[in-house]
Amino acid sequence: MSTSRRAVIASAAAAGLTAAAAGAAHASGASAGRANAQPPRSERFGVLADGTEVQRWILSNGGTRLKVLSYGGIVQSLELPDREGTYTNVSLGFDQLSSYVKDSPYFGALIGRYGNRIANGRFTLDGTEYQLPVNDGPNSLHGGDQGFDKRVWEVTPFTSGDDVGLTLRYSSPDGEMGYPGTLDTKVVYTLTRQGDFRIDYEATTDAPTVVNLTSHIYFNLAGEGNGSISDHWLRIAASNYTPVNPTLIPTGRITKVAGSPFDFREGKSVGRDIRIAHAQLLRGQGFDHNFVLDKGITAQPEHVATLFEPESGRRMEVATTEPGLQFYSGNFLDGTLVGSRGRVYRQGDALCLETQHFPDSPNQPGFPTTVLRPGETYRSSTVHTFSTR
Ligand code: GLA
Repeated sequence: MSTSRRAVIASAAAAGLTAAAAGAAHASGASAGRANAQPPRSERFGVLADGTEVQRWILSNGGTRLKVLSYGGIVQSLELPDREGTYTNVSLGFDQLSSYVKDSPYFGALIGRYGNRIANGRFTLDGTEYQLPVNDGPNSLHGGDQGFDKRVWEVTPFTSGDDVGLTLRYSSPDGEMGYPGTLDTKVVYTLTRQGDFRIDYEATTDAPTVVNLTSHIYFNLAGEGNGSISDHWLRIAASNYTPVNPTLIPTGRITKVAGSPFDFREGKSVGRDIRIAHAQLLRGQGFDHNFVLDKGITAQPEHVATLFEPESGRRMEVATTEPGLQFYSGNFLDGTLVGSRGRVYRQGDALCLETQHFPDSPNQPGFPTTVLRPGETYRSSTVHTFSTR
């Protein structure tokens, strides 16, 4: 496509998107080819060193096709049509289990017990100090080096009305990766008849603990391995973000995005401001920050972000119950990993939009709490809605 045609499509789409109501995602485009539910079926994906078999589940509905591994609850492939109806996998990943075990920067994985960083891997709860194994400089990242992304989940398929999906369960023993309490975790992946991908998280504990679950899908709406996400148009409904210290731990301040590269409220291309020499962008080597969502914590998922890729016309809306969104612009992809289609992943080849509570909340009294106590149920839901323009 010529540069000028691309520019026209991009600006027209961006204008339409800015004006469009959040719920109007299915107003046009891909709705024609929707429904066609395919109940989940499974096949063997690989075997772990201890002999455990890992299954790959394959399901589709409403024009969205999903492949999920029992290992890490990993979304190994998420296929979406472009505006011509051509399907592409829009999530980074591998074609082999061994790569997920050895090399994966959390591609597609469920993250727990604690999404993002806990400073020095340490926190105090009810007067007791807990030390977690550190795996990211001085800090604990994404639940530790054997987090939920490295566990084999018990997967049960379901069909419910027009929905198809998978229920994933994992019981994390007391003390696993340093966290107190047995954490019984249930994650439900649902594909709706409109092709929405919904994730519902639930957890209970038998002792006071902290929990912050998320999903670490790396999106490239042009297709994984198809280059940079620099031209993806992104809008985030956040007037504030949490700046970080040199090891990417929030300083505790809540800072306005206005007048900074962190202002995605009106929508702009990911690449537009990424090369501004802003101290926070230098720290993250790009965007790797928690956005404080204006809607706050909500009982039902509410719209927080729109991602649009002008050439393919693929568009994704994100709605969540969570108060935060970690926008990570794939900064640490460095050309050393070969993806599922044999293409090399380089810096900025994908982005993550991780719905969550704020990083390091157990050490930040000013942030919404991540403490879970016996008798309470942790709940979090995120919905990805897909369309084309
Ligand atoms: C999160 C973190 C990043 C990075 C990636 C995985 O998004 O915030 O700093 O660790 O996960 O590489």
